[in-house]
Amino acid sequence: MQTEGKSIVLISKNPDISALVESVVQFRPETVLKRCDATLSEMNGTASELALKNDLVIFCPEGDTDRDVAAVREIRSRVQSGAQVIALADARTPFADMRRLSEAGVSDVLPDNLTPDELAGTLWKVMDSDAGQGTAAAEGSRNGMVIPVAHARGGAGATTVAVNLADSLTQRSGFRTKTAASKVALVDLDLQFGAVSSFLDLQPGRCLYQMADEGLMPDATFLQQSMTEASAGLWVLPAPAEFAPLHMLEAQQIQALITQLRSQFDYVVVDLPRVLVEWLSPVLEASERLVMVTDCSVPSIAQAQRLIKFYGGVNVGLEVDVVINRKRKPMFAASHEKEASRVLQRPFDHWLADDPAAALAAADQGVPLSTAASRSALIKGIRRLAASMIDARQAQSATVN
Ligand SMILES: Nc1ncnc2c1ncn2[C@@H]1O[C@H](COP(=O)(O)OP(=O)(O)O)[C@@H](O)[C@H]1O
Ligand SMILES: [Mg+2]
Repeated sequence: MQTEGKSIVLISKNPDISALVESVVQFRPETVLKRCDATLSEMNGTASELALKNDLVIFCPEGDTDRDVAAVREIRSRVQSGAQVIALADARTPFADMRRLSEAGVSDVLPDNLTPDELAGTLWKVMDSDAGQGTAAAEGSRNGMVIPVAHARGGAGATTVAVNLADSLTQRSGFRTKTAASKVALVDLDLQFGAVSSFLDLQPGRCLYQMADEGLMPDATFLQQSMTEASAGLWVLPAPAEFAPLHMLEAQQIQALITQLRSQFDYVVVDLPRVLVEWLSPVLEASERLVMVTDCSVPSIAQAQRLIKFYGGVNVGLEVDVVINRKRKPMFAASHEKEASRVLQRPFDHWLADDPAAALAAADQGVPLSTAASRSALIKGIRRLAASMIDARQAQSATVN
């Protein structure tokens, strides 16, 4: 279904929001925009009539969530299959209020500081969906593959691998690689020293901090509010700028987060923290493959061995891909490399070249290697790792079907 000939009702007293919505709708001239200078509760039942006769109702919450929730419930009790309802909420609205609006029947709660492009993306997606469901709900269960990335020592290259593995897993193609074959989440659970946002020139996010601090149970609305699309198909949940109270995070919260992510993404790449905390268990339990980034030095291999043992204790079936960073695959393994492989009880299939020029170019520009150094030896090695993950996922879905 296309949006041509459809109608949107905007219920808002805020001229900035009206201007924002108008700037988006003008690009679809067949779409009619009707404006009501009021709050939802002031509409006193007229909102239900409008929801019956139009395709989309957008409103600005008035700051009194009880009244907004009551007004949305009123619409939903009278109009089950009519218009979708979207809230454009103040970006500082607490998650608890957003969740109450979603539960009352709002398809999407969006922050009001979206750019016109971001708003257009969501509006047309909601209106073009025949199913008549909100975007998050409509995504459904993709049963994404969870891939935690760990390192044997700080600086081994885990974040470099996590960022560029996630980017490669999107399998972008087309003119200026705008089309992604897979939807990938990149989650920075290195809450205290997270660097994913700086690798991709994004703002750190407060959402994971808030989740820990307020004891929030993450749901679809939480994901919608907290993730940023860094490039086509690559969605990032960044670590906070402040030191997060790690001990306050509960395993159930991370479990809910991973469940949500798996349902909405094909791959969920997690940059793991160095600390061994209780809430890592749900990540490890949901994973089939973990990437351990290390070098071949004796201390690093000893650390890698300890960590693999710990992770394997949480999930007995967990496969571990050892990635030897800063070293090209040798034609013949040296004796210390053979010994390292024996200690870790697995072959070393993945080697990433030492490539400071490529790493520096990506860091300077705040972009993935695929943009800054698309032909570098480093990205080629990471693409091979991604290809092995994609093969594993395809083999798995072939077995299931
Ligand atoms: N193969 C490589 N060649 C050159 N530099 C690398 C390579 N891998 C990582 N680096 C650089 O090493 C530094 C540490 O990497 P990072 O991924 O942050 O490590 P970790 O997350 O394990 O602490 C970064 O500046 C990164 O650009
Ligand atoms: Mg790191």
